[in-house]
Amino acid sequence: MKPRIIVTRRWPAAVEQVLAERFDTTFNQGDAPLGPIELKAAFQAFDAILPTVSDHMPASVFPDGDVRARILANFGVGFSHIDIDAARERGIVVTNTPGVLTDCTADIALSLILAVARRAGEGERQLRAGEWAGWCPTHMIGTKVTGKKIGIIGMGRIGKATAKRAHFGFDMDVVFYNRSKVDDEETRAMGARQLPTIEDVLAEADFVSLHCPGGAANRHLINAERLAVMKRSAFLINTARGDVVDQAALIEALENKRIAGAGLDVFDGEPNVPEALRRLENAVLLPHLGSATEETRVAMGMKAVDNLTAFFEGKELPDRVV
Ligand code: DGY
Repeated sequence: MKPRIIVTRRWPAAVEQVLAERFDTTFNQGDAPLGPIELKAAFQAFDAILPTVSDHMPASVFPDGDVRARILANFGVGFSHIDIDAARERGIVVTNTPGVLTDCTADIALSLILAVARRAGEGERQLRAGEWAGWCPTHMIGTKVTGKKIGIIGMGRIGKATAKRAHFGFDMDVVFYNRSKVDDEETRAMGARQLPTIEDVLAEADFVSLHCPGGAANRHLINAERLAVMKRSAFLINTARGDVVDQAALIEALENKRIAGAGLDVFDGEPNVPEALRRLENAVLLPHLGSATEETRVAMGMKAVDNLTAFFEGKELPDRVV
């Protein structure tokens, strides 16, 4: 008998087809996020749950006692929406999809850097509103990106890919903070300097780009105190997770021009984005598009399929988190 699995959201058609062939698969035809009651019930009714970033899975959705589900094959590299300890305690395996979204997430970080520094969102809004009065030497003056300094917080795969684009594409100096020492050929080739503290990076960088995981350990890593360390002319870029930034403190810093601007692809409590943030012209806001390309979303799905297949064949899992 094929394992019974549930896919919590719609996935790319090519991946859904493979899932339907290999497993007894229940799809979420309406694509509306499942609530806590439905998620909890899924543990009893299915051998595997295939969740993603929009599924909130705190300890309270993990039923007590024996459950049928043995694996959560997450669609996505970030897994801070899943209570990993609750899974571990119940012996439930968790996998993710690292590697395949590195390039596209780094591309979005660069898009945000360029858009916020060169006021692309503001310019587009002005033009579409029919308010552009024509070229003049003082119209919508932004900040030059080429040759500036980028500060990376979290020099993992995506941090390095972002730094590489900034350095080799835009001649930017790279400084970074990472908990453990990073000393590899790729980093040396960029002349990237690891600094001892986050504050050191914030104080030096013209663009600060966040690439650390979300969740309790990094919640509000960038808070009012740390925003105050940044240069007034600097920009904050977040393609990691919304909870890494204290959103209220960021809004205040943007309103008071304590920093020059922010480019955000992720939000605390998304998809709700505070009106105060949406009002700000010095913020470029994207609806969590980091991995949103056909190539990457299919690759993410196929990674989840590989993890699931390996699990039910009793093989070693390519991307085991727990
Ligand atoms: C991830 O994989 O964690 C992304 O945020 C989804 O694009």
